[in-house]
Order: sequence, then structure tokens, then C-alpha cells
Amino acid sequence: MTKPDFQVLASPSAVAEALANHMARALRAEPAITLGLATGKTFLPIYAALVALHRTTGLSFEGAHSFNLDEYIGLVPGHPASFRHYMEENLFRHVGLSADRALLPEANGDPEAACLAYERAISARGGIDLQLLGIGRNGHIGFNEPGSAFDGRTQVARLTPSTIAANTSDFPPGEVPPPEAITMGIGTILAAREIVLVATGAGKAEALARAFPAAPHQDCPASALQRHAHVTVFCDEAAFGAMRGEGQG
Ligand code: GLP
Repeated sequence: MTKPDFQVLASPSAVAEALANHMARALRAEPAITLGLATGKTFLPIYAALVALHRTTGLSFEGAHSFNLDEYIGLVPGHPASFRHYMEENLFRHVGLSADRALLPEANGDPEAACLAYERAISARGGIDLQLLGIGRNGHIGFNEPGSAFDGRTQVARLTPSTIAANTSDFPPGEVPPPEAITMGIGTILAAREIVLVATGAGKAEALARAFPAAPHQDCPASALQRHAHVTVFCDEAAFGAMRGEGQG
């Protein structure tokens, strides 16, 4: 098992700046990079920092392709809580990542066919170079909830009640998240050449502490990352807090 590198920064904005710079270096080294992207509140300052680098330094996404981790099943196209909408609003349209190069699982047709097509599209690009991940409070990555197999590929996932509750605030008043989503599997994620896990805020401290000091266990999907040789955790002091006592700091 491999311990990830930890980049512990003072605040979410310091995390955003450090990770945006890390991604900018990767993009400049490989303009035809294939990125794996994530959604969630954690990534809002990170995408804002990337957009700022695009505007101020000319950081180009012209040759880049991207695959998002997941998408809710059954939301109408353009739904404000869809991950496509999130990505368009927070990154794609600002940096010129067009829909033919910036993919999310197709969650409005036959889900099983969409899962296979997504895996094929990732393979056709030669795999993912740099995969971003957030972490759910229960340790989920993408929508791979506790109990998910570590070798799973893109699949339909049923959200747990706690994930539905955590994500309800992303939906318009009176709406709740759909019960199902298409998500890259943990095996798909582990096939990326480099993985960055981001955790900010005290609310993520317990999930982070459960993911790393202990042995990998299906109860905590993020602990599967110990099976990957090139993982960096970008976190703030608040999220890292609970690990101080575990000999990590
Ligand atoms: C969702 C996403 C995950 C994300 C998690 C945490 O469930 N599917 O990819 O990491 O939420 O989101 P947040 O950053 O809002 O805490």
C-alpha cells in the first residue's frame, strides 16, 4: 500500500491556488492532456482559480480533453443542478472546453449503454492523465458509495440517503437529487496515471482520516486510493486536523 503525498495549505483559497498551479504545470507540459474532473462545492474555488490563470496568463485548454466523474440520471438537459450545467458555468465556457472535448456520462438515454460508451471513450483517449476527486462525508469518491467494489468500472450507482441529503442544497427549493447516477467506478479512477484528492473544511476531516491511516476497506471508497502509486491529497488545515494525531503531520 502507498501513502499519498499530502499538500496541507492554510485555507480553501490556498488549496485552490496550489492545485490550479499544479494543473497549469501539467497542462503546459502536455497540452493534449486528458483530465478527469469532479464537481461539488470543494471545486468551485479551484475552477475559479483555473479560469483566472486562463485569463491572466493565457493558460490554454485548446488541446485538452476531459471526462467528468459522474452525472445524475434523468435530469432534463440544462437542469441547474446537473453536473454538465455546473461544469459549463464554472469552467468549460470560460476556458473554451467545448462539449465535444469535455464529456460527462450521458445520463438521459440507456444508462447501461452510456456506461460502456464512456469507458470506450476514455480508452480511445488513451486513459486519464490527471484525475481530480473530492470526497463525500461517508468517504465516497465520484458516486461510489461505501461497499462499492474497488475494481468497478463506469456504472449506475444508487445514492445513499446521506449523499442525497448532503447534495439537496445544490437543487432548487422543493427538489431533491435523483436516486441514481452514472459514475466512473473505482477501477476506472484507479486506472488514471495521477490522482489528486481534494478535501477542505472540518466537515471532511473525519472522512480523510478514515481513508488513509487504516487499511483499505470497501466501507471507505476513498481508502482504495492507497492502491495507487501517484496520489496527492490537497487539503486545508481544517480537513487535515483529525490526522495530526495519527502520525501524519
Ligand atoms: C458529490 C460528488 C462527489 C463530490 C462530493 C463532495 O456527491 N459526486 O464527486 O466529491 O459530492 O462534494 P462537496 O465538494 O460539495 O462536499
